[in-house]
Amino acid sequence: MANSSFICLLFILLFNGSIVVHAFTGTYGVNYGKISDNIPSPEDVLKLLRSNKIKNIRIYDADHRVLRAFSGSGIEISVCLPNELLIDASRNGSIALEWIKLNLQPFLPDTSISGIAVGNEILGGDIAISEALVPAVKSVYRALRRLRLSDTIEVSTPHSEAIFSSTYPPSNGTFKESMMPYLGPLLHFFNRVGSPFYINAYPFLAYKFDPSHIDINYALFQPNKGIVDPKTNLHYDNMFDAMVDATYVALEKVGYKKMPVIVSETGWASKGDDSEPGATPKNARTYNFNLHKRLMLKKGTPYRPKMVAKGYVFALFNENLKPGPTSERNFGLFKADGSIAYDMGFKGLVPSSASSKDFVLRGQFWNFQFLTMVACATILILFIE
Ligand SMILES: *[C@@H]1O[C@H](CO)[C@@H](O)[C@H](O)[C@H]1NC(C)=O
Ligand SMILES: *[C@@H]1O[C@H](CO)[C@@H](O)[C@H](O)[C@H]1NC(C)=O
Repeated sequence: MANSSFICLLFILLFNGSIVVHAFTGTYGVNYGKISDNIPSPEDVLKLLRSNKIKNIRIYDADHRVLRAFSGSGIEISVCLPNELLIDASRNGSIALEWIKLNLQPFLPDTSISGIAVGNEILGGDIAISEALVPAVKSVYRALRRLRLSDTIEVSTPHSEAIFSSTYPPSNGTFKESMMPYLGPLLHFFNRVGSPFYINAYPFLAYKFDPSHIDINYALFQPNKGIVDPKTNLHYDNMFDAMVDATYVALEKVGYKKMPVIVSETGWASKGDDSEPGATPKNARTYNFNLHKRLMLKKGTPYRPKMVAKGYVFALFNENLKPGPTSERNFGLFKADGSIAYDMGFKGLVPSSASSKDFVLRGQFWNFQFLTMVACATILILFIE
């Protein structure tokens, strides 16, 4: 009986062609951006991730030094086919194939490469690259199949909020009509191969652009009265969940009710320009502490209670060479020297510098209490025995 059902399952897997593959088996991951000339080596980054029990990361390229350093670590890595290669990859199938052979295959299976993002935030940019997206995604998928890697590496592409015409209230989530010529075929393909929908969602940016209408506590997962969506009657007490649900609604409206949504980037800057309200170490600490707590609950959202929310934080380090407003260079959970940017419960590679001293002292106090508790419990157990 058991044997025949096993054979039956095997049969289905073999003849159905593809097994659905998921790049992200946890719920909390981190984006390891490297637009910087002063961050720790990949070997030190591995130590940092291990000591903080972070098992899922995304990188924005396929840097061989990183892929080599992470060999045997068990950390799941999603790599990225850079935007610059998208147009070429869409026109010529061998480019994706060669790219995978050169950049990924030599590191497999010791390095757990579990996903390829085809470009980052392509839609909303110029037309030529938007038109290249679907052909490039298909070309990467075909190359993976040819190399027998499509059952272990997921193909996807993360989007910015530019694809939406509305995200508020969540039941009003809608994709822009102008995006549908690209999104339509993309969703059709992702649905066929079982890929989730990745979205970059930043309550930080929503607050920055409209601080007078947005309750910062709602953006930071702090106690607040929240919003009630008039159409669904669902109550939202944080903007992160609302953004994810707006995506679910938009997907449902175009026929993809079952497609999972994953947040590929979210985060909060600890420093910004005068024109960037909210960018403080205290807010960044609050957002990231609460986000971690939220994702570790492994719970769904009000609209999709059974779909466990998953997200990757942006970013591991402050990146000194990123262009744009000051906030762009200050999204790190860690400073470039490997110390914590603020205390959200993570350990740095080196002790933190003076500016976050007050947080550290509180952390140590807590640790002292914890140690005392453990010691008492141990004594109690010994005593009972
Ligand atoms: C496609 O790319 C391959 C590998 O880079 C190259 O050798 C080949 O000439 C290209 N084919 C066309 C038609 O451009
Ligand atoms: C829904 O979104 C549209 C824009 O697409 C907007 O005009 C409308 O006011 C929104 N509805 C509500 C109830 O906010």
